Amino acid sequence: MEKLLITGGAKLQGRVEVSGSKNAALPILMGCVLAKTPVVLSNIPHLKDVTTSLQLLATLGAEIMIDERMNISIDASNLRDLTAPYSLVKTMRASILIMGPLLTRFGEAHVALPGGCAIGSRPVDIHIKGLEAMGAKISIDDGFIHAYAPRLHGADILMEKVTVTGTENLLMAAVLADGVTHLRNAACEPEVTDLAIFLTKMGAKITGIGTEHLVIEGVEELNGVDYRVIPDRIEAATYLAAAAVTGSAITVSNVEPSHLKSVIEKFIEAGCSIEVEDSSIHIDCRDRVLRSVDIVTQPYPGFPTDMQAQFLVMNVVAEGQGNIRETIFENRFMHVAELEKMGARIDIDGNLATTEGHSLLKASHVNATDLRASACLILAALVAKGQTHVEQIYHIDRGYELIEEKFHRLGANIQRLSY
Ligand code: UD1
Repeated sequence: MEKLLITGGAKLQGRVEVSGSKNAALPILMGCVLAKTPVVLSNIPHLKDVTTSLQLLATLGAEIMIDERMNISIDASNLRDLTAPYSLVKTMRASILIMGPLLTRFGEAHVALPGGCAIGSRPVDIHIKGLEAMGAKISIDDGFIHAYAPRLHGADILMEKVTVTGTENLLMAAVLADGVTHLRNAACEPEVTDLAIFLTKMGAKITGIGTEHLVIEGVEELNGVDYRVIPDRIEAATYLAAAAVTGSAITVSNVEPSHLKSVIEKFIEAGCSIEVEDSSIHIDCRDRVLRSVDIVTQPYPGFPTDMQAQFLVMNVVAEGQGNIRETIFENRFMHVAELEKMGARIDIDGNLATTEGHSLLKASHVNATDLRASACLILAALVAKGQTHVEQIYHIDRGYELIEEKFHRLGANIQRLSY
């Protein structure tokens, strides 16, 4: 087992390089199954979820090569297995993303029901209904989703909720379907757009990219390309939030600032000075009073649920009352109990977290309950008095590359302990 030991109080300074986006990399990795010739991917973060995805692709029979610069070549021309086993799927909910690509290219797919972060019920009904609308016969049996379709056909699909992986799964299914598919109420997250651009480069015909209405004209085959995934906007914003809570100035580089508009607005509202350049963001919170902000999480371009926990920590230590309303997931306030152990004063009423501000945080032993919750505990520990032990950090290794190394280089007092 491993944990992080963090002694609070250090100011951060310097520059941190953001890794490739996990949530863009995962669907793109699964999308490699669609190509008849090898795909070469770069800027793929070195994370547990990426390893799990590569293991899944290898289990299916893909040939994978990684060079010294971490470029990953994936050759799915000779897949021999169409089953995503529970042993892999249980650790990563995004494994469901293999369903659309396998089904559309090979006519069948068998995917264990997904696991992943324990935030609310997180169903996959919209994925299933969409594939059924495209002609798939689907059954759920023994903990597996079994899907069959000799060839999917185009369909007009209105997704009843905005779902990121749901949109991605159906998009990947549609690119090789017979005819035209409309995906309405599609997620517009930059990661969905990145996948759509990747698929287009492989030969897919997609219009409406970046909008809520994707139109996909199925093609007969797709071919491999070289593709670089976008930077991780949530990782970038997490470091910005670390600077905010510690009253520091840092520069976050290798980012795409346009992906962070709603988040940058909230940093500015919180009293942080922000300077945006082409691919970097400088934040300066020295000698500034951090103010609480009101937030409602929304699908992109609204404020991302994946930054909710980090802004909650900002509100906990900031001046004034703050209200954060979580509208995307149920049960996404599990970090609150852990923050309370550190002295945070937070009232929860349904999906609303209200803070009075000015909490003086003290070190404690806390458990990371999910990916973004673990990030928020690190932020809290950076300002807490004393040494905090953050346990169950396997969650954080699913989403943040080299986190203790990056924080250490910024001047944080942080170390990983195996025990
Ligand atoms: C993705 C991201 C995750 C982010 C989330 C919301 C990946 C790998 N993960 O998760 O980091 O927090 O988007 O931005 O990209 N829903 C249904 N039925 C479905 C599918 C979803 O009801 O079939 C609901 C969910 O329960 C949730 C909402 O739709 O309430 C949004 O979930 P969704 O966008 O699908 O989240 P993920 O794609 O799993």
